[in-house]
Amino acid sequence: PGNLDTQARSILKENDLGGYTIPTRGLYPYQWNWDSAFVARGFQTFDPDRAWTEIETLFEGQWDDGMVPHIVFRKDDPSYFPGPSVWGTKQALPTSGHSQPPVVATVVRDIYEADREAGEARARALFPKILAWHRWFHRYRDPDGLGVVAVIHPWESGRDNTPDWDGPMQAVDTSNIKPYVRKDTSHVDPSMRPLKADYDRYLAIVDFGRSCGWDAARVARDCPFFVADPGMTFILLRADRDLLALAQAFGEDEAAQEIGEWIERAETGAIRHLWSDEVEGFVSRDLRKNKLMDGISSASFLSVYAGIADERTNAALARQFDRIAEKATYLMPSWDPEDSRFEHLRYWRGPVWAVVNSMIGRGLLEAGDFARAERIRADTARLIETSGFAEYYSPVTGAGAGGGAFSWTAAVWLFFAR
Ligand code: DGY
Repeated sequence: PGNLDTQARSILKENDLGGYTIPTRGLYPYQWNWDSAFVARGFQTFDPDRAWTEIETLFEGQWDDGMVPHIVFRKDDPSYFPGPSVWGTKQALPTSGHSQPPVVATVVRDIYEADREAGEARARALFPKILAWHRWFHRYRDPDGLGVVAVIHPWESGRDNTPDWDGPMQAVDTSNIKPYVRKDTSHVDPSMRPLKADYDRYLAIVDFGRSCGWDAARVARDCPFFVADPGMTFILLRADRDLLALAQAFGEDEAAQEIGEWIERAETGAIRHLWSDEVEGFVSRDLRKNKLMDGISSASFLSVYAGIADERTNAALARQFDRIAEKATYLMPSWDPEDSRFEHLRYWRGPVWAVVNSMIGRGLLEAGDFARAERIRADTARLIETSGFAEYYSPVTGAGAGGGAFSWTAAVWLFFAR
């Protein structure tokens, strides 16, 4: 581990462009939202001051309505598409137009609690900003108060091409998109990336958002794609609990009251709206068609991380976990390996992602499920030991895929897998 520790720290340092960290050279040359959160947790293990800075620079991109965008573009980099001009968000500091899974509050609580004295002022300064961001999620990504979080774009979920989106994405009209040139497939083998048909729809939603001036209420009302995601719902529920702990530590009583209501609503909402008896798991729900999706993804296992202590759903998930654990050499595949849509190397249609493992593992550990927690941790460590700090890995062969020298994988090694 000594050598891997050193390598992981150098990856973080080398991908640090001066107060913010890029996910990897070439493929992702800007600051990504949830990448930065995990990276901050990685920095915390050897440079807590730098960890705080990572979150602070991310919030430089926060919008007036509270949204923290999924990409902060500090300078135009022609090696990435779609860049700031395609998004057309008109922010002083150019950004993309939607958000990404809100892991920040959880990480901020971790960093703060590791050294309250050193972190007090910085955590207090971030608190109202994170609160505004969470409020934005509850208002604009759950306009009907169902207690679940919708995404308006696959990129918002972070699980870009998961089969969860295949059905709902059919509603996205691509007849008006202009010719474009992808850059991702010049950095990485196209067989490991989303298809052209996916990209056409990704761009059509960006065109739609730009045509609404990225007005959050209009986007929520009219976006052709509006799907409640177990990943987002559980990550925000977890983050709300951590934000509540910060509110209590800082004597923010009114905020604590508001956050408490969000938590209550999500606890019942997630089970009511995202649980599928047919699949026996948490799945996505297309809110435009009011239709549940039909497969198990790695996000299905995040309810435990979200603190949902429901006996029936937990027992079913344990059975799903064990079934998949028998099939997969390495856990947790991003899509059910027994489903026909599974592809072991294609991005979110099968590969293992270390950050998702870190959340599933943490949830299991906190729930006292030590054996399953250890399987997830050990598999993550074996993947990194065998295949280096890849973007993601085949759950079948363990081969690394996507970008290399990847920041969040390095971070996960430092705070979870080692
Ligand atoms: C990409 O460019 O593939 C990213 O996932 C978008 O966030």
